[in-house]
Amino acid sequence: MDYIEIKRRSSITRKILLVAVVTVLFIFMVKRPSSISGSTKFSQHESGVTHVLVTGGAGYIGSHAVLRLLKDSYRVTIVDNLSRGNMGAVRILQGLYPEPGRLQFIYADLGDAAAVNKIFSENAFDAVMHFAAVAYVGESTAEPLRYYHNITSNTLLVVKAMAAHGVKTLIYSSTCATYGEPDKMPITENTPQVPINPYGKAKKMAEDIIIDFSKTSNMAVMILRYFNVIGSDPEGRLGEAPRPELREQGRISGACFDAARGIIAGLKVRGTDYKTRDGTCIRDYIDVTDLIDAHVKALAHATPKKVGIYNVGTGKGSSVNEFVEACKKATGVNIKVDYLSRRPGDYAEVFSDPSKILKELNWTAKYTNLQQSLRVAWRWQKAHLNGYD
Ligand SMILES: NC(=O)c1ccc[n+]([C@@H]2O[C@H](COP(=O)([O-])OP(=O)(O)OC[C@H]3O[C@@H](n4cnc5c(N)ncnc54)[C@H](O)[C@@H]3O)[C@@H](O)[C@H]2O)c1
Repeated sequence: MDYIEIKRRSSITRKILLVAVVTVLFIFMVKRPSSISGSTKFSQHESGVTHVLVTGGAGYIGSHAVLRLLKDSYRVTIVDNLSRGNMGAVRILQGLYPEPGRLQFIYADLGDAAAVNKIFSENAFDAVMHFAAVAYVGESTAEPLRYYHNITSNTLLVVKAMAAHGVKTLIYSSTCATYGEPDKMPITENTPQVPINPYGKAKKMAEDIIIDFSKTSNMAVMILRYFNVIGSDPEGRLGEAPRPELREQGRISGACFDAARGIIAGLKVRGTDYKTRDGTCIRDYIDVTDLIDAHVKALAHATPKKVGIYNVGTGKGSSVNEFVEACKKATGVNIKVDYLSRRPGDYAEVFSDPSKILKELNWTAKYTNLQQSLRVAWRWQKAHLNGYD
């Protein structure tokens, strides 16, 4: 091969290489726009758009919050480690709001400080709704360290990341379990908080961290102390689907549906000799639709340098017997009930005084009706015998 031939061939090779590089770049550019425009929307503040980070958005309450926020035109990022939540719920939300810049899901553990920091540095959040938590009283007694880590320590990480990245509004999911066993009913926000189990204590410590930090910053904080949450999306898109292994820890509505479906033999009512109208424990049940409405109102009223603390309940207690009767009517199944002796640690009567949230946020429970709330939840349960699978 002479010199000219070699030169000609290497020039052809260069041209081929150039065409290949340009083609690869072109494909890359064509493929990228959706993700670039998507991530740009999440990574930049946009006037008129409020971007909310919803931790635990794949869980029961968090997914309902995401649905409402998207309906109300918020931009939403879910962060969840799927330890207890359901990717199925996220997929439903993504299917309802597929437009770029509406909803993104980030799989991450809030106990991973580096991951949390990366999420905050890559996204422009305006507010955080912090739902993510392990949330079973019984489990907290058996595994206290898990609860202090997951609830208290992770909340500290979230608040530190908010402070480091200038995110100024926090709506925190707390619980009536922080009050313990008060002498006087109803429970007001001034009722002393004397929690009696690690779940309630971990939530109280998380509240304290938030409140103390807020005194040194201009953060706008709303702490919502929920009572017993029931129900699901009235349009049947979302529901409550706890892990099967958590059934034993579960809440009364889950047990009631499991009994109606024949998964368990019947309901066990523990304690019939409490000093209540029918001897069974009294609790304040709040429909998840009402609860989320309280969050949206809290977000709208959040004020820099202020901490709003609110009970979210109906102010009316229902006994376990009344709950069981409502459940029988809602499911149409004559659920078998066994009456057993008291369970240690259960308190006789817990119900809220929700007058502060009515006065200050103009919120009151509108949808909560034991039988109707259970009927809606039962419809979803019957249509989703394997949960979101
Ligand atoms: N359900 C109730 O009756 C009730 C009552 C009072 C307060 N709350 C509070 O409401 C919040 C939501 O409860 P829920 O009933 O929807 O529970 P849930 O278990 O259905 O949802 C919690 C979500 O948080 C996620 N999560 C847990 N730890 C995480 C971590 N380290 N990193 C990332 N994600 C994590 C789970 O995967 C799950 O999706 C909790 O903070 C709970 O304490 C619930």
